[in-house]
Order: sequence, then structure tokens, then C-alpha cells
Amino acid sequence: ANIGIVIPAAGQGKRMRAGCNKQFLVLMGQPILAHTIRVFEESNFVSEIVIVGAEGDISVIKELVYHQGFQKVAAVCKGGVLRQDSVRAGVRALSPAIQRIVVHDGARPLLTLQAFNQFLEETQEYPAAIMGVSIKDTVKRVNLAGNVLETLPREDLRSVQTPQVFDRGILEVAHYQAVSAGYYGTDDASLLEWMGYPVQMVEGMQENIKVTTPEDLWLAERILAMRES
Ligand code: CTP
Ligand code: MG
Repeated sequence: ANIGIVIPAAGQGKRMRAGCNKQFLVLMGQPILAHTIRVFEESNFVSEIVIVGAEGDISVIKELVYHQGFQKVAAVCKGGVLRQDSVRAGVRALSPAIQRIVVHDGARPLLTLQAFNQFLEETQEYPAAIMGVSIKDTVKRVNLAGNVLETLPREDLRSVQTPQVFDRGILEVAHYQAVSAGYYGTDDASLLEWMGYPVQMVEGMQENIKVTTPEDLWLAERILAMRES
């Protein structure tokens, strides 16, 4: 019961084209970020939460935390240019007592408490583990001109989500090595893979989408509405 959560929420939400950080958009009466934080606030395994925001969003995030009455949020810190920079800043802000870290996108408000707790149980023996789901479409590799180069074997592929859980030591080393080498990955596990470190994949939930484009908003709203009814 001593897990620390880092929530990268410092993006610009360009693909959402909302003119503001998509994480403040409202689903079922609550900002997306509030839905995201609530799962961790309610999990008995979690003792501390750090939220990473863009400089101009920090005061709004602090207000949101206060307004929602979240007790576990230890810091709201300033993010960086890329997601990886934001996560690195968040990890640094966790108190030294935290030895196990979960990273979860601010833009994934549909993770359930039950799925999260189950993820923690399934992954407790692994130094690094992530959630992913099987792919429904056929996936092909193409070149810039759109020529199809090959069809990838779907059984071998997973669409990767967060949460991702790590022993603190290995996550810190991975981020340190990556920033020193100028290596950037789109998730945290890829930094460990780049170092040759094993990462375990466990089954995620299809509903745990990342709210990315406008269509995702109504889908997320529908899913939440269904849960409430
Ligand atoms: N993120 C972050 N810091 C960055 C970039 C992204 O903390 N410099 C966060 C986002 O806020 C989001 C998560 O990482 O919660 C996943 O990123 P993504 O879905 O790509 O969000 P955005 O970068 O905001 O969206 P876009 O790429 O469309 O601009
Ligand atoms: Mg992005």
C-alpha cells in the first residue's frame, strides 16, 4: 500500500482541437482529469499522487484537486516539452519513501478501480509491467508514399495503454540514461526496452481509451453513462 502515482497531464491536446488542454473538458459533469485522479485517490494501494501539468495549467489543476477534495495529491509539478520529460519531472517529485511507481496518462479517464487493483495484483512480482490489449484491425507497415510494405502478424501485437508499473530504481535509471543519450520513447516501458530490460505485458481493458480526438469524447461519455445507469 505504498505505491506512488505519476500522472502526466502536461500535453497540449493538439489532436483534440479544443483550444484548451483536453484534460479540462467535461465528461458526465466532471473534468477528464478528475475522473483520472479519482481511481488512485480511491485505491488502498496508493499513498501518493503527483500530477504533472503545463506551466499555465498548474494553478487550474491545483484548484481542481482542492475542489474535488483529493487528499493524496502530494504535488502538482511543471511538465516538459515531451511526455517523457513530464514523467521524469513527476518521478522526481515523489517522496523518497515511494519505491514502486505507476505512470498513468491524465487523458485516460476510463480506467476502473477494479481493473487498476487487479493490474497491481497481477504485476506485483515484476519489476516492470504494462497493460495492453489485442489489436482488432489488421496492421500494415507503409512507407511515406503509402506503399504497403508488409502485414504484421496481429497475434504478436498489442496496443499499449497505461497504467505502467515500475520499481522506482529501474524507472529512474531508464529515464536518466535516456535523457543522457537523447533517446525518446512514446511510453515509459520503451526506455527499459531500449536498455534491454525485461517488461511484462498483461491484459488491459478495451474501454481504457486515451481521449485523443473529438470522437473519443462522446465514446468516453457513453461508456461513463452506461456505468452509471
Ligand atoms: N503529456 C505530458 N507532457 C507532454 C506531452 C504529453 O504530460 N509534454 C501527457 C498528456 O497530457 C496526456 C499523456 O501525456 O495525458 C498522453 O499524451 P497525448 O494523448 O499525446 O496528449 P497530448 O500530447 O496532450 O495530445 P496531442 O498529442 O494530441 O497534442
Ligand atoms: Mg502528445
